[in-house]
Amino acid sequence: FEFTPANLEWAKAQITKYPEGRQASAIIPLLWRAQEQHGWLTRPAIEYVANMLGMAYIRALEVATFYFMFQLQPVGSVANIQICGTTSCMICGAEELIAVCKELIAKQPHTLSADGKFSWEEVECLGACSNAPMAQIGKDYYEDLTPEILRDLIARFSAGEVPVPGPQNGRYASEPI
Ligand code: FES
Repeated sequence: FEFTPANLEWAKAQITKYPEGRQASAIIPLLWRAQEQHGWLTRPAIEYVANMLGMAYIRALEVATFYFMFQLQPVGSVANIQICGTTSCMICGAEELIAVCKELIAKQPHTLSADGKFSWEEVECLGACSNAPMAQIGKDYYEDLTPEILRDLIARFSAGEVPVPGPQNGRYASEPI
């Protein structure tokens, strides 16, 4: 793994924002850029970023495994669906959403659908508890979900649409930012 020339230039600029000896503080933006470039974080990508920052691979891996915004395995080409499974969402039906993912995408999390378009996983609270149950699909939040709404969202994403994020039950007007 190597950054593209543009990403390398960007990464070097990030590193200069931190005081001498504190370059490791740039770990999160650099890992994020590596993930955006490749789609997910391979071991060579994590090693590459660690080397750039003068860190041990294990320290970079610790960061990459701590935050679930980092993906350590391939994700769907259209979207990775992150179902919140924490208390509010669990009480309001997260397990039914997970059942939809198991049926339509793959029985196991972190597994690609047969067409490679989707993957899914259960994550901890995403901070949208008042609109539970919810999921992050790609980079957007889709809230007030039901199994039927999630099925519809997956079908629309699969067809190339990008459904309007936010509450899906009309609770609030919601427009993309
Ligand atoms: Fe699901 Fe907080 S419990 S967003």
